[in-house]
Amino acid sequence: MKTLKYFFKKAKKEEWAIGQFNFSTLEQLKAIVNVAEKLKSPVILGTSQGEANFFGLEEAVLLRNLYRKKFPYIYLNLDHGKDVNLIKKAINLGYDCVHFDGSSLNFQENLKITKKIVKYAHKKGCLVEGEIKSIQGSSEIHKGLPKDVLLEDIERAKEFVKKTEIDSLAINIGNVHGVYKKSIRLNIEHLKKIKREIPIFLVLHGGSGTSKKDIKEAIKNGVVKINVNTELRKAWREGLEKSLKKHEDTIKPYNILPEVILKVEETVEKKIKLFKSQR
Ligand code: 13P
Repeated sequence: MKTLKYFFKKAKKEEWAIGQFNFSTLEQLKAIVNVAEKLKSPVILGTSQGEANFFGLEEAVLLRNLYRKKFPYIYLNLDHGKDVNLIKKAINLGYDCVHFDGSSLNFQENLKITKKIVKYAHKKGCLVEGEIKSIQGSSEIHKGLPKDVLLEDIERAKEFVKKTEIDSLAINIGNVHGVYKKSIRLNIEHLKKIKREIPIFLVLHGGSGTSKKDIKEAIKNGVVKINVNTELRKAWREGLEKSLKKHEDTIKPYNILPEVILKVEETVEKKIKLFKSQR
């Protein structure tokens, strides 16, 4: 079985990125897995705390295991974990990676807890993603433009990475969560500096609504994992609304929901092709 780390290394060497696609419903999950299988692309299934609590950590792990029989390179990540108990539970259940988001804590506190989680996770073969400066926005459709554009403090990041021994870092290069009035542009020059100084795997959050040209540049310059959520939520909702209108005369979920899956699949397929992760 090829591990997630194997694919991160391969992606870094060959300049492509693995998509992390978040889900909280079975339609979204089926869509992600269907496209991964069709395009032979490794994928990461992401569950934020809210998504994990709604869907169930155990359910997520059991379904990942089941779908691995169809296509083996499906991995699970706990996204923006803030609750250490939930993170430990995910590790114990067999998540492949956990993201500890200690960005709301002061630097030393974040460092201390991240380091503890790394020790715990590595014993069980689970990777850890860290975050220092909070990535702005939320996975929703926003009316205006993002308020702040943050850039990673490279010296702090170097210290954090060295002392915590995290496997990957969620970086700030102008990226934000969510879709806005205008496409988001990334600061590729800043990414180049991060890449020169920080030897671990670099993760780009806020994969929705970002300039395609900048995503390609980010991959060329060392990003190996890109998180996508808002565009999948949008596809799910639009697919559902359209299908409900079309099937006004039925209450059969199995007649209504296939179109939702199709709509989410379209979005996942576009992203996988943009990230060049199909094998
Ligand atoms: P988007 O909602 O902008 O796609 O970002 C998702 C994300 O980064 C999850 O961690």
